[in-house]
Amino acid sequence: MATTGTSAMRSLAAPPPETPSANRPGNWRPAADDFPAFPASWYVFCESSQVRDKPFSKQFLDRRLVAYRPASSDAIVVMDADCAHLGSDLGAGRVAGDCIRCPFHDWEYGPNGVCRKIPAQESIPEFARQRCYPAEERNGLVFVFNGERPLYPLPYFPGRSPDELIRARPFGTVLDCPWYVSGANAFDLQHFRAAHDRRLVAEPRTEQPDRFAFAALGVFAVAGDTWQDRVTRRFAGDEVKLAITDWCGSLSFASAEFRRTATYGLVAREPLPDGRVRVDVYVFARRASGPIRRVLFDRLILQIRRLFIKRFLTADAIRLNGVRYTPDRLIEADQDMIDYYCWLARATPDASRASSQ
Ligand code: FES
Ligand SMILES: [Fe+2]
Repeated sequence: MATTGTSAMRSLAAPPPETPSANRPGNWRPAADDFPAFPASWYVFCESSQVRDKPFSKQFLDRRLVAYRPASSDAIVVMDADCAHLGSDLGAGRVAGDCIRCPFHDWEYGPNGVCRKIPAQESIPEFARQRCYPAEERNGLVFVFNGERPLYPLPYFPGRSPDELIRARPFGTVLDCPWYVSGANAFDLQHFRAAHDRRLVAEPRTEQPDRFAFAALGVFAVAGDTWQDRVTRRFAGDEVKLAITDWCGSLSFASAEFRRTATYGLVAREPLPDGRVRVDVYVFARRASGPIRRVLFDRLILQIRRLFIKRFLTADAIRLNGVRYTPDRLIEADQDMIDYYCWLARATPDASRASSQ
C-alpha cells in the first residue's frame, strides 16, 4: 500500500538486522521516521460472519478493502474496494457466481481481481482490474496481509492449534499514540508493577523466534489487592508466566499461564491515517475436554476471562493515550523496550517496499 511521505523516508543508515542481545547496550535507536506508517504485515480485517452472501467493505489502513466469497470456493477474497472504472464501492455491489459485481455499471471482477465482464461492451481495458491481498480465515476472523505476497505465514499462539481454542467477542479502543508505541507496551517491564500490580519474580528474557517476530517471557507474582487479584490468586494461582510474541507490531499473541489455568489473548493493531492506532483484543481459552462440559462451561469460562483481561488492559489504555515516541528519554531500565524498537524498525518494511521483495 502507499505510504506517507515520512514513512517513505526510512533511514538508509539503519544498521542490518541483529539479535536482540546484540543491541545491549547499543547506542543506536531508531528515529520516528524509521517506522512505516502502515507496515507490511498480517492484520485482522473483520469477522468471518460479516462476509456471508454479500460483500463486506470498510476503510482499512490507507484505503478501502472489500471481502467476498466466490460461489465455487470456500476461500475468501480480499481486494481494493474502489472500482477501477469510476471508483464506486464494490462493497455495495453483490456476488455474481465467482465474481463481485460493481453496483454502478455492473462490471464484474473475478477472484484474481481481473475484470471478466463489462455489460455495455465486448472489449475489457487493461486497467480494469482490482489489486488483491492474501487473506485467510481462522477462529472466525478474516486476516489480510497488506502486500502482494505474505512476508511470513499467518502466525498463531506458539504450541497451540486453532481447533484447540475458542474465542470471545472482541473489545477494543482507539489509542492516541503511534502503533509502535502501543506494541512496545508489552516490553515495558517497568509498567507491569506500576500499572498492573505484577511483580517480576525472575529475570525476563526476550528473543527473536523469527525475523518478523519479537518475544518476551517473564514470570510475575500476582501482587495486587483488588478483588480481581484476590480471585485470580484463589482460582488460578499466585504466579503467572506471561509470554508475548509480536509480529511486525500488528499482531501480538499473548499467553498467561497460571498454576491451574491458562488464558490466551490476541492483540490486533491497525494504524490509522491520523497517526493514532485502533487496538482490538480477542480473548481465547482452551476448549473443555468433554461435550457436556463444553456446553455447560466453555462460554461461561470464556466470558469470565474476557472480563478479567478487559479490566487488566484498561489500565494500559488510560496510560497510553497521549504517549509519544521519545527515544532519547528511554533509560537503562527500558532496555527491553529499546530492543523491541530496534528490532521493529529493522523488521518491518512499509507495504510498498514489501511488494517488490
Ligand atoms: S464505477 Fe464500477 S462499474 Fe462503473
Ligand atoms: Fe500493560
